[in-house]
Amino acid sequence: MAIKLEAGKKYYYCTCGKSSDEVFCNGAHKGTSFTPKEFTVSETKEYSLCDCKKTSNIPFCDGSHSK
Ligand code: FES
Repeated sequence: MAIKLEAGKKYYYCTCGKSSDEVFCNGAHKGTSFTPKEFTVSETKEYSLCDCKKTSNIPFCDGSHSK
């Protein structure tokens, strides 16, 4: 999904797939072995984040969803 991110702001990407808050952690991982991936970006702009959890470049889309 394409989303605008702000430079220097901390974001927490959902790695468990249970969050109802798009691709960001909302705490739904509690009780699982998953933890969110903290990340920042160096430039304020639109980024393509991974929805399918198949990327090898978390949290960014690497095209794996179409393979
Ligand atoms: S809700 Fe999925 S990692 Fe937190």
